[in-house]
Amino acid sequence: MDSRIIVSLDFATAASAAGLVRQLGPAATFYKVGLQLLTAAGPSVVRELVDGGKNVFLDLKLLEIPSSVAAAVTAAGQIGASMVTVHASGGSAVLRSAVEAARHFPQLKVLALTVITSMDDEDLREVGVVSTVREQVLRLARLAVAAGCRGVVASPLEARMLRETLPSDTLIVTPGIQLASDSRSDHARFTTAAQAIGAGATHVVVGRPISCAPNPADALAAMRAELSAAR
Ligand code: C5P
Repeated sequence: MDSRIIVSLDFATAASAAGLVRQLGPAATFYKVGLQLLTAAGPSVVRELVDGGKNVFLDLKLLEIPSSVAAAVTAAGQIGASMVTVHASGGSAVLRSAVEAARHFPQLKVLALTVITSMDDEDLREVGVVSTVREQVLRLARLAVAAGCRGVVASPLEARMLRETLPSDTLIVTPGIQLASDSRSDHARFTTAAQAIGAGATHVVVGRPISCAPNPADALAAMRAELSAAR
């Protein structure tokens, strides 16, 4: 089973998420649960996935004071998440408190978010950051690794730069993935799973290319085939 593909459950109800999980069956072992599904359906969604033998990337995107971040990471560990996200822009104290809280859960890895993928250099300037997106991504990624985070979430465009800079055991999880057979117009911002892994990503997060495919199981199989061919 290829656990490098994390299927994103971007759904409004537990029933629709469960529908995709059923369709994909044993072929999918890793799922991302984000704020939409968690808020709509509650933590039982995560527990059920974990009870069903799946790994869960709980994308909480935490940006809070250190004690609150630690409490939320603890809650994520208690429901069985394998990965949880925290914003590196919170700084070292926030990152360290997340890492410290995760130590109580052997399966739980803290991943840092750097600059959200929808922001460009101009958006950064608007919030008072004079660095370019690449500079800021690198700065925050280094900060996160120094604080003990196991990995970062990064756009495919940043994966190579991060792979070349960060320690070799750092996880790099990359969204913005399309199927090789897909033809999204916005080519600059999307890569295939094989390209992302080739650039140094350890995992890819894939939502709509699988969930909106006419046959999601076929789409996942195609992506897994792309990855094995590229290996
Ligand atoms: O685009 P797709 O449906 O595959 O997105 C799956 C997940 O990846 C979304 O939940 C979103 O959080 C994340 N994403 C991202 N940056 C992008 C595209 C998607 O963070 N450019």
